[in-house]
Amino acid sequence: MRLEEIAERIRRCEKCPLHTSRKRAVPGEGREEARIMFVGEAPGKSEDEMGRPFVGAAGKLLDELLASIGLERREVFITNVVKCRPPSNRDPRPEEIEACLPYLIEQISVVDPDIIVALGRHSAGVLLGSESIMRVRGRVYEVEVFGRIRKVIPTLHPAAALYNPRLRPLIEWDLGELKRTISSRGSGLEDWI
Ligand code: URA
Ligand code: SF4
Repeated sequence: MRLEEIAERIRRCEKCPLHTSRKRAVPGEGREEARIMFVGEAPGKSEDEMGRPFVGAAGKLLDELLASIGLERREVFITNVVKCRPPSNRDPRPEEIEACLPYLIEQISVVDPDIIVALGRHSAGVLLGSESIMRVRGRVYEVEVFGRIRKVIPTLHPAAALYNPRLRPLIEWDLGELKRTISSRGSGLEDWI
């Protein structure tokens, strides 16, 4: 499977300094046929230990948010902009994002999702070229992302809502946009998930 081949290269990757401090690289997971992809920022502590995306507290919240719009994790593909954990969960550096980006581009071209949900500032930065997640969130973009026009839905990172629960309704609203997009008549997406 092509995704597994990409994942294997990520697990062996030493293209940026993050490989020296990681326990495990976190390639991402989900079905090759997924029509929806979620792109987070970078693995945290639990993800680094397990080698799987969004398995810690932010992941638990993401699962809850997905369930609230009738989606399950196994129906989507989940990955991150940067595949190895930055020490102490610091922000990934521009040169780390640049070094890691080819993997995300490969994953997007293999899965070829119709909708990409950008979780947080760094993901929205890579997918929409935006600097401020608060400024861009709240709507659905139709833009060219690595080869073709796709819908991009930027929202806050779930970890932000863990720190500040008042932000949770904003993510819920944005995922409501996802739900509306999926169920919009004639989108064809309702047949895919
Ligand atoms: N935060 C992320 O951005 N990605 C993960 O996989 C976990 C937490
Ligand atoms: Fe390679 Fe990306 Fe890990 Fe850096 S973060 S070592 S580029 S997989």
